[in-house]
Amino acid sequence: MGKFGLALGALAIQTALGAPTSSRKSSSYVDWRQFKAHAVNLGGWLVQESTINSAWWGEYAGGASDEWGFCENLGSQCGPVFEEHYATWITTVDVDKLAQVGVTALRIPTTYAAWVKYPGSKLYSGNQTKYLSEIATYAIEQYGMHIIVDIHGLPGGINGLTIGEATGHYGWWYNQTNFDYSLQAVDALLAFIQKSGHPESYTLEPSNEAVDNKDFSVFGTPAALTDKAATWLLKYYHAVIDHVNAVNPNIPVMLQDSFKGEKFWSGNFSADANIIIDVHNYWFDDKNATSETLAKDICTRAKSNVGDAKFPVFVGEWSIQAGSNNTFALRERNLNAGLHAFYQYVQGSSYWTSKFYGNGTVSGQGNQTDYWNFEGFVDSGYVHLDSTDYQCL
Ligand SMILES: *[C@@H]1O[C@H](CO)[C@@H](O)[C@H](O)[C@H]1NC(C)=O
Ligand SMILES: *[C@@H]1O[C@H](CO)[C@@H](O)[C@H](O)[C@H]1NC(C)=O
Ligand SMILES: *[C@@H]1O[C@H](CO)[C@@H](O)[C@H](O)[C@H]1NC(C)=O
Ligand SMILES: *[C@@H]1O[C@H](CO)[C@@H](O)[C@H](O)[C@H]1NC(C)=O
Ligand SMILES: *[C@@H]1O[C@H](CO)[C@@H](O)[C@H](O)[C@H]1NC(C)=O
Ligand SMILES: *[C@@H]1O[C@H](CO)[C@@H](O)[C@H](O)[C@H]1NC(C)=O
Ligand SMILES: *[C@@H]1O[C@H](CO)[C@@H](O)[C@H](O)[C@H]1NC(C)=O
Repeated sequence: MGKFGLALGALAIQTALGAPTSSRKSSSYVDWRQFKAHAVNLGGWLVQESTINSAWWGEYAGGASDEWGFCENLGSQCGPVFEEHYATWITTVDVDKLAQVGVTALRIPTTYAAWVKYPGSKLYSGNQTKYLSEIATYAIEQYGMHIIVDIHGLPGGINGLTIGEATGHYGWWYNQTNFDYSLQAVDALLAFIQKSGHPESYTLEPSNEAVDNKDFSVFGTPAALTDKAATWLLKYYHAVIDHVNAVNPNIPVMLQDSFKGEKFWSGNFSADANIIIDVHNYWFDDKNATSETLAKDICTRAKSNVGDAKFPVFVGEWSIQAGSNNTFALRERNLNAGLHAFYQYVQGSSYWTSKFYGNGTVSGQGNQTDYWNFEGFVDSGYVHLDSTDYQCL
């Protein structure tokens, strides 16, 4: 554990406004140009996805494809069912388990409904921030973890996916009303971080996988975001950075790249911006990728993720399911290949996801749970963050 504790303490050189304080050593803000994280996502907790917890979804969702329809179908039972899920899906026991294998950070997706009431939305606004606060504070105080809070979808819908607001929703794009509600959500998250008692332990991520191309065959590729939409997203990113800087410029802003890569965005931000680019690396959709090819694929990708190196890069999501011929025997190798490669070439990664009990089918051996459930890998003794046996060639 020592090594991970040290990484966290890595000092952030504060510039300009932030006068150093006497407690600086224990309360340094992270500088993502130096800071690296071994993170795991807390998916399926404050944002619901049918694939992550099939049994629960089958029991309560009434056949809905997304959280929007799930809550609509449940009616007055939506509150109690979701609150119970928030209280039980992730607990401090999960944080303990992750810490024990050397996990130093958590990426936590939330819906905008955790932060803002958006008229007409069927997404549930309840006690999300209470549960978020309990888990984050525990992770910070007990283990010195860093917390990335992500607003996974935005008012109106940012990608037509279940996670962008609701299936088929693209209403966020070019809609100033929805843009303004999004910034209200950002302000609420900022206020949450400021009041947390540990503002130095947070990174703010204002959206996830925002894309406008309705042709899903290009999802996950640069073609998923058109130039027109990139301009709109860029306007949002600049507004978010302005809002954060006005409140606390030491809080890093993580910008999800919409599959464009760091180099696409870097020219549009000044070199001293306190930002980090989040890229997502998946192979489950790539029929050419197999468990056999994956370790090499991961290394190739890790090296290219660096972009032009103007800004630090973090792999905010990835998993070891390949598009073809998955095998149990290569999981341990592939998992460690990614954990180490993304830590070596960029600022680390966040596996998708901590708990995953989905019954979806995969090519080759097993089902989705066998490839996406990080805590299952912990139970199997697969996580070797201290090992030097998994270097890229
Ligand atoms: C997965 O579980 C759900 C809910 O129990 C069920 O409806 C579905 O048929 C299952 N799918 C597979 C592939 O087993
Ligand atoms: C939210 O938490 C508070 C305090 O624990 C509780 O009184 C309230 O009933 C909860 N709200 C819901 C919708 O469960
Ligand atoms: C923006 O979105 C809101 C909420 O969905 C909608 O009522 C409004 O008509 C939209 N505005 C435009 C210009 O499309
Ligand atoms: C800024 O972003 C736009 C997309 O909005 C992109 O087309 C352009 O190349 C970028 N400019 C620079 C200097 O990187
Ligand atoms: C898969 O491999 C084939 C043959 O080498 C190639 O034509 C194709 O572009 C590859 N597809 C992807 C998604 O890389
Ligand atoms: C997967 O395995 C099958 C059977 O061995 C083989 O024919 C096929 O080429 C493999 N797929 C890939 C992408 O390697
Ligand atoms: C999925 O795999 C897990 C682990 O191997 C197994 O326990 C579970 O029964 C499988 N579920 C389905 C629906 O096949």
